[in-house]
Amino acid sequence: MEMKPKQLVTLNINERTYEVPLHPRDLLVDVVRKEVGLTGTKKGCGQGDCGACTVLIDGEPVLSCLTLAIACQGKKITTIEGLADAKGELHPLQQAYVQHGAIQCGYCTPGMILASKALLDRNPRPDTEEIKRALAGNLCRCTGYKRIVEAVEAASETINKEGVK
Ligand code: FES
Ligand code: FES
Repeated sequence: MEMKPKQLVTLNINERTYEVPLHPRDLLVDVVRKEVGLTGTKKGCGQGDCGACTVLIDGEPVLSCLTLAIACQGKKITTIEGLADAKGELHPLQQAYVQHGAIQCGYCTPGMILASKALLDRNPRPDTEEIKRALAGNLCRCTGYKRIVEAVEAASETINKEGVK
């Protein structure tokens, strides 16, 4: 069967507009990584099991390996590259993950941090159980979840003290 030509679609990623050529069945994870070049988003299982590909769509965590890129037109997509501020200073969550040793190989980290961000945006003072629940779909095979939870708790404190978004 002959493949239809790609069509140009406008995507808003990290407050920037990109005109991206894509097929209707292209997945967001592949488009973000290969067409846009934002390789911070990771592809692990490719079937909705690991959370490595998590991005935010209109502030909600979404598995980009199960999301059609074309369906994201008109929505606000946030990847890990969009978290640092304009001067390049890391978001408190990123700083806390580093400071608390919540990163080893780092493969799960972008998805884990974006899921953490969605949690803190809707609930700036989550308790331990709420953090665990919010990150239940994000698998880490090397760090151990204790440090990850501690990092989210520390970032929550910083954000509440300093009012960072
Ligand atoms: S790569 Fe999307 S859930 Fe694993
Ligand atoms: S740090 Fe390696 S999978 Fe989480």
